[in-house]
Amino acid sequence: MPLKISPSILSADFAQLGAEIRAIEEAGCDWVHVDVMDGHYVPNLTIGPDVCAAIRPHIKTVMDVHLMIEPADPFLEAFAKAGADHISIHPEAHPHLDRSLQVIRDLGCKAGVALNPSTPAVVIEHVLDRLDLIIVMSVNPGFGGQSFLHSQLDKIRTLKKMTGERDILIEVDGGINTQTAPLVVAAGADVLVAGSAVYGKGGQDMSVYASNIKAIRQAGNLAVN
Ligand code: DX5
Ligand code: ZN
Repeated sequence: MPLKISPSILSADFAQLGAEIRAIEEAGCDWVHVDVMDGHYVPNLTIGPDVCAAIRPHIKTVMDVHLMIEPADPFLEAFAKAGADHISIHPEAHPHLDRSLQVIRDLGCKAGVALNPSTPAVVIEHVLDRLDLIIVMSVNPGFGGQSFLHSQLDKIRTLKKMTGERDILIEVDGGINTQTAPLVVAAGADVLVAGSAVYGKGGQDMSVYASNIKAIRQAGNLAVN
């Protein structure tokens, strides 16, 4: 399966999210990664369902929603109604993970889990049949622009073995750039989230998005070719 790139709009210019999304899609991204943070489960606050609904008409690809909120259960329906294609939740924040994943699928979305760096792969062993997506956090969630944690490569390899022939994608989120992309793809990643490596640090120069996405994709593909 071809490698997918899901730029995180966390690093985009929030004053013009519609234009930023159209630009990354024109630049060749596969999905649009939306980081939702609550200032409680993670030490940062970002956006909620209303902003997701507002950006939805600008997304032609896939709205890949990553919920870093605790609890997520009371808000799952709102994110589905806002147009999320994927909803990923953190098992560390959800004691009844099996039920929450069922709810996500019942709402018509693909269901994902996101595993913090300290969370072992085994946490999802008994919910594999409820999963479409596993996000391996290669930084501690909360902020863009952090350094990749090499300790997560082993977990990606473990998950690749654990998922076997199942139709579950492994997405890696945090610190992905042209140096780290080949490492995670070699370990088994199918989807790469990248915030700062696509958008750049600070200056929103949309002309660089296509070359940034292409460079990450090429670096990742080097690992498998
Ligand atoms: C971290 C978020 C990531 C992050 C990625 O909590 O889930 O999606 O924004 O940003 P970079 O690619 O800059 O590490
Ligand atoms: Zn994310």
